[in-house]
Amino acid sequence: MSVNVDFLQSKIKNSLGENFVPEVGIVLGSGLGELADEYCDLAIPYTEIPDFESSTVSGHKGRLVFATINGKKVIMMQGRFHYYEGHSIQKVVYPIKVMKKLGVKTLILTNAAGGVNPAFNPSDLMVITDHINFMGVNPLIGVNDESMGERFPDMSETYSPELVDLTKKIASKLGIDLQEGVYLAMSGPSYETPAEIRMARAIGADAVGMSTVPEAIVANWAKMNIIGISCICNSAAGVSNVSLSHEDVIHAANVAKDRFKILVKEIIKEL
Ligand code: HPA
Repeated sequence: MSVNVDFLQSKIKNSLGENFVPEVGIVLGSGLGELADEYCDLAIPYTEIPDFESSTVSGHKGRLVFATINGKKVIMMQGRFHYYEGHSIQKVVYPIKVMKKLGVKTLILTNAAGGVNPAFNPSDLMVITDHINFMGVNPLIGVNDESMGERFPDMSETYSPELVDLTKKIASKLGIDLQEGVYLAMSGPSYETPAEIRMARAIGADAVGMSTVPEAIVANWAKMNIIGISCICNSAAGVSNVSLSHEDVIHAANVAKDRFKILVKEIIKEL
């Protein structure tokens, strides 16, 4: 799927001027989209953008937002595309390729996740140090676009260790408790079974969710620097004896959202 940014570039030029080249991209996960309400110089609904799908999950707005935050030019996805919505995996990652073409160097991927690590509590924030792809699909399958990345990309430092350290340093400076760990992605939309969560734990996962990994694979392939932050919204199935609901996930994200915003804004400043 070729990537065409002519429409977005002319919108940016008309509204924000020639010099607006976004260097930071942010994908805002469920319940974490407020940053794009607070900072918004230009918003374009996904429905208007050629080759974008329209997002459908509640808690997701579905627009691309451009803003300057702490002196950095930023492009935000307020709502993302999920594989479980029925979009092809190519459509899920298309916006990441668009960000790359628009000039983004550093990508901050955020999500709502279930806590697999029993030490985690709802509304904890976790910096992602690595991931496990259990989605059953890889977005790089197909003809390789050599202009963006190589056929067999190395994944040993997908989440830049320097940026993990920077995130930890900033959190500690701000007095924000920050967990760290491995994010495992399943396709969803059903939550996992307790047996699946026991497996996730046994193979080294600390958190589980239904997004982020396809985007991280493509961003890593395209040589972007990646920071991943999960908001732990619930204990994953069987970790505690509470049943899971999307409402509880959104509630926990709401509790965490101010801390999340402060952390992300400071990261942007320090990049
Ligand atoms: N599992 C998968 N995805 C999630 C969860 C979970 O427990 N919580 C929030 N997103």
